[in-house]
Amino acid sequence: MASQVLVAANRGPLSYALAADGTLSARRGGGGLVSGLSTALAEQPGALWICAALSDADREAVRRGVAEPGVRMLPIDPDVYDGAYNGIANSVLWFLHHHLYEIPREPVFDAEFRRRWDAYVTYNEAFAAACAEEAAEGAAVLIQDYHLALAPGMLRELRPDLRIGHFTHTPWASPEFLRMLPDDIRSQLVWGMLGADRLGFHTETWGMNFVSGVDGSGNGTAVAHFARGGNPSSVTHRKDTDGPGPLRETVVDTYPLGVDADELRGLAHRPEVDDKLAALRAEVGDLKTIVRVDRTELSKNILRGLLAYRELLISHPEWRERVVHLASAYPSRQDLTVYREYTESVRELAAAINTEFGTADWQPVLVSVEDDFARSLAAYRLADVALVNPVRDGMNLVAKEIPVVSEAGCVLVLSTGAGAYEELRADALTVNPYDVTATAEALHAALSMPAAERADRTKRLAVAATALPPTQWLTSQLDALRT
Ligand code: F6P
Repeated sequence: MASQVLVAANRGPLSYALAADGTLSARRGGGGLVSGLSTALAEQPGALWICAALSDADREAVRRGVAEPGVRMLPIDPDVYDGAYNGIANSVLWFLHHHLYEIPREPVFDAEFRRRWDAYVTYNEAFAAACAEEAAEGAAVLIQDYHLALAPGMLRELRPDLRIGHFTHTPWASPEFLRMLPDDIRSQLVWGMLGADRLGFHTETWGMNFVSGVDGSGNGTAVAHFARGGNPSSVTHRKDTDGPGPLRETVVDTYPLGVDADELRGLAHRPEVDDKLAALRAEVGDLKTIVRVDRTELSKNILRGLLAYRELLISHPEWRERVVHLASAYPSRQDLTVYREYTESVRELAAAINTEFGTADWQPVLVSVEDDFARSLAAYRLADVALVNPVRDGMNLVAKEIPVVSEAGCVLVLSTGAGAYEELRADALTVNPYDVTATAEALHAALSMPAAERADRTKRLAVAATALPPTQWLTSQLDALRT
């Protein structure tokens, strides 16, 4: 039966594992997008989630026709998938949107880049075709993230009747960064996005970047209309190939994803988390804790966070043997050399700090490189200070989760680069992510903050963090699409 509500995203709500005896088992997919969307979508009757088969086990599940209700996995050719996901989404678009390039060496747009771009086009076409096939007349389709920036335009061509939304979970590149792309590629990217009726971003800054970047993107007329102070911006546009006719409009709006307090507190008080908390307490004793939880992701700025902790131990030696830094940095995108090297650098720097300052009774940094959500939740409950210092981040849900779960109240040290900064800055201690000395001083101020002030700030942070929980985040986008 055709669906009235569709979500298209690279990752699905589940992934498969293939046992040695050939048995397939399903488990929940990973990542922030998945946790937010899974609960929210469950409340939309008959909704369909279209995602890519990510592994051999997923492809095998598709081949065997194993289907979970409400999910369609696309068995994209592994080489195409690698070119699109690793080659373009994670190595080009992610780097552009997060301003991660080391300019003397990168980016390089050569023949190999073009080959990967072709794969990215094919991957987007597969999603557009599946959406076109599954959607009921006039259905709402919400396409997710930079993996699928071309799909809105492709779907518009196939099914002009649909209401198409696209949400970007990352920042959007500033216009100067976007202009690094070859002109024809930038044009495809911008016009792909303009195929949507509505574009959503976590913050006004990221939305403004998109609107500012449409100028001069070739292939037609695109006029930016900026709004500040609560009203959505928009782009009116017409492709040259469309011939004369009225301009179409794409509305650009912000939907700052928040957390569901009840759900998160429920998860954080499962017996499994209680056990992990007891183990952590036994390890940490009565020392203060600085907690961080990230994927080992270049944009999360884990290395400068460790350098700031090191500087704290030098400039405020009174904290030695009185504090522990609990850093969860679980592996991510390990197919890419630069991510493997970064993960190794995190391990090495943490070990160097332990060698430099550690004593027989005190290990200054405890690093966990496991993807252990229960341990992370236990660390959230225990945290005296939360360190969230990305150089640039679409939102950063950890900054919102910790104040909601923290037991005794916890001071949030938050960088100006996080999307969450726009909502949480009033009650966080805010830092320039590149300023290691300022971050060390913020950690000192956070550790020294009186308990009453800490608790008051945490309460206000938790209110701001839960302003737009996932279900409302999704329904407000669907409502806007349908009006
Ligand atoms: O922030 C963008 C995002 O796609 C998130 O939605 C997701 O949690 C994260 O990156 C993980 O990325 P990947 O799917 O590549 O592991």
